[in-house]
Amino acid sequence: MSRNHPDTDTVRAALALAVHAPSVHNTQPWQWRVGDTTVHLYVDEERGLHHADPDRRDLLISCGAALHHFRVAARSFGWHTVVHRFPNPDDPRHLAALEFVPVTPTSDVVSMARAIDDRRTDRRKPTSWEVPEPFITAMIAAGVAEGAMVSDIPGGATRIRLVEAFRAASSEHRADRGYRSELARWSGRRADTEGVPARNAVASADPLTREFHASTLTEAVLHDLDDHGALLLVHTGSDDALSRLRAGEAASAVLLSATGFGLATCPLTEPLELPGTRALVREDLLSDSGFPQIIIRAGWASTSAAPVPATPRRPLAEVVRPLE
Ligand SMILES: Cc1cc2nc3c(=O)[nH]c(=O)nc-3n(C[C@H](O)[C@H](O)[C@H](O)COP(=O)(O)O)c2cc1C
Repeated sequence: MSRNHPDTDTVRAALALAVHAPSVHNTQPWQWRVGDTTVHLYVDEERGLHHADPDRRDLLISCGAALHHFRVAARSFGWHTVVHRFPNPDDPRHLAALEFVPVTPTSDVVSMARAIDDRRTDRRKPTSWEVPEPFITAMIAAGVAEGAMVSDIPGGATRIRLVEAFRAASSEHRADRGYRSELARWSGRRADTEGVPARNAVASADPLTREFHASTLTEAVLHDLDDHGALLLVHTGSDDALSRLRAGEAASAVLLSATGFGLATCPLTEPLELPGTRALVREDLLSDSGFPQIIIRAGWASTSAAPVPATPRRPLAEVVRPLE
């Protein structure tokens, strides 16, 4: 290992963890390029969802999550990353150029890196056990440290209105043939390396749950139907590409922090994909100032619930190439 940059095996090990990042419909819309002393992240626009995500918001949030996963992995291996976001004004697909500085990993970053392997999107309704306040505070702090804002969505009337926005978005999507055929392409099929398998999707009456093309995961048996899962909204002051990338980094930090506490998590964006319902969420939760990017649900899974299987990933050879 050079004193100034990690060796090839270390970079590869960090990339192998980075590709575990969550992405909308498990599209994995990223490409990595590895130079002698630098690593570069590009967005793979061909993997964008034209119907679910016409604004490319989820696309960039997904890449931001991968960027954060890579940074956490590298740091846990002893390399702090200096990140230049959107380094090339002539190439908006070039999301980040990373340089390395040796660092001694802290136990916090090692725990966060461990959470990468453990994290799964769990779409089942969480139990009624409350998420302790200090956990919520820590998840918010982890997200805020990544350059976005994170707010705990209160219960009561605000949550009821949010559930209504989820219902409205879901029924708008159900009536949209383009959305449905795109969903059928990305979910429910026997896909080996991408998409949301039926075994990870749940047929649920829970309005927060996105309906995928096919679902075989069974909803947990809950005795108390109150849902005490925390809902955390990641939001930003602007709605440009950089803000979306940073929102993805923040979402990743929230998810890994929650996973470290043993919480089940699910990213949720359906009402933020449609202008009408996104405007409702913006008005209700942010009083029209700032931009909602992604909601993270975090709660305790039922002790009787089987573990959620890992979703597939594309082989590293498809997403990692040498820098030309
Ligand atoms: C930007 C973004 C939006 C997402 N939106 C949803 C959603 O609305 N509903 C849902 O069930 N999962 C959502 N997910 C979770 C992805 O479907 C999930 O990350 C992907 O299938 C990979 O599975 P894994 O997270 O278990 O690794 C989203 C993830 C990201 C990054």
